[in-house]
Amino acid sequence: MRIHVHALATAAATLALMVLGSLVHGTGSSLACPDWPLCHGTVFPEMTHGVEFEHTHRLMALGVVVLVGTLLVRALRRTDRVAVRLAGLGCALVVVQATLGGLTVIFRLPPAISIAHLATSMTFLSVMVVLAVRLWPRALAPDVGVGTGFALAALLVFVQIVFGAVVRHTGAVLACAGFPLCTGEVWPDAALARLQVIHRTLGALALVVAVGVGVSAARRATTRNARIAALLPPVLAALQVTLGLAVVLTYAPLDLVTLHHLGGALLLASLVAAWALHLPTAAPAGNPLQAEVDRGVFEVASR
Ligand code: HEM
Ligand code: HEM
Repeated sequence: MRIHVHALATAAATLALMVLGSLVHGTGSSLACPDWPLCHGTVFPEMTHGVEFEHTHRLMALGVVVLVGTLLVRALRRTDRVAVRLAGLGCALVVVQATLGGLTVIFRLPPAISIAHLATSMTFLSVMVVLAVRLWPRALAPDVGVGTGFALAALLVFVQIVFGAVVRHTGAVLACAGFPLCTGEVWPDAALARLQVIHRTLGALALVVAVGVGVSAARRATTRNARIAALLPPVLAALQVTLGLAVVLTYAPLDLVTLHHLGGALLLASLVAAWALHLPTAAPAGNPLQAEVDRGVFEVASR
């Protein structure tokens, strides 16, 4: 497998693992394995009563650890120091993530650790996306101005996702009835309801920012690929807000909540990818000539 495909496969496996993690929580299986790292004292427990979600999540996490570990080994054989650092950061994050996963079980699901587990998974996914873009043979002409817009939008979406986790892990999902008001109020008294109002408001802001940044980038785009990369985040943001609304109006069924989790991860990944694609130094190993162009070597030489 080529190294850029290996990096993309690691990002895809992470996304699948995250959806499974969301199902672990959503199906109430988080403590189906009461111990860690073994499950009921064995590596091969009976896959029933939620163990099928929780233990499969752990086994799949092991697969992601192997994928990112081998990615680092392969990156070390190359001259691209940024790729090595990104793969190294990925390895460190996956260790932190597995530790947080274990701590959620040992301490019986304190919300702070569950929220940190979600935030670290999104950070890890983002690093894998940047690494995949870095290693990919150059597809787009870099534009730092456009890239900065996507980076700011990605930061906003990351904060919004963390608020989503706060809503989820504090049980604020049904704290507001109706939409757009929260049980008829703009700013309710109850703390849980306020958390959801903040998540809704940030969601609207994230949509406006993603549309603004995406549409202006699409206008500046000179190729079809650049236009697709620019327009993907606004489309995903619109879908994500629609899913959020559906979650609230239908009292949070498991399938919609899981899709909303996946939608948040995909939106973040699309913004991070759009940012990384516009970095001037992406993928020197994929296309050395382009890297020279990016660094302005030919420009200087021609003066
Ligand atoms: C690469 C490694 C991992 C990733 C990317 C990952 C990702 C996730 C995600 C995204 C969730 C859903 C969180 C939410 O909905 O807020 C989750 C839940 C969970 N994960 Fe992981 N996980 C990883 C490793 C582990 C490991 C090694 C364990 C070991 C015990 C673990 C245990 C759990 C548990 C118990 C939950 C449910 C938490 C709750 O109900 O609050 N995870 N995981
Ligand atoms: C760009 C916009 C949005 C993003 C990126 C986003 C992201 C997320 C994520 C990732 C979660 C799950 C966190 C976890 O699994 O721990 C979540 C939860 C939630 N979101 Fe959003 N969201 C957005 C907009 C909205 C909107 C507009 C609403 C409502 C009108 C909404 C309502 C909810 C609710 C109720 C939950 C909790 C679900 C539960 O407890 O099971 N979201 N959000």
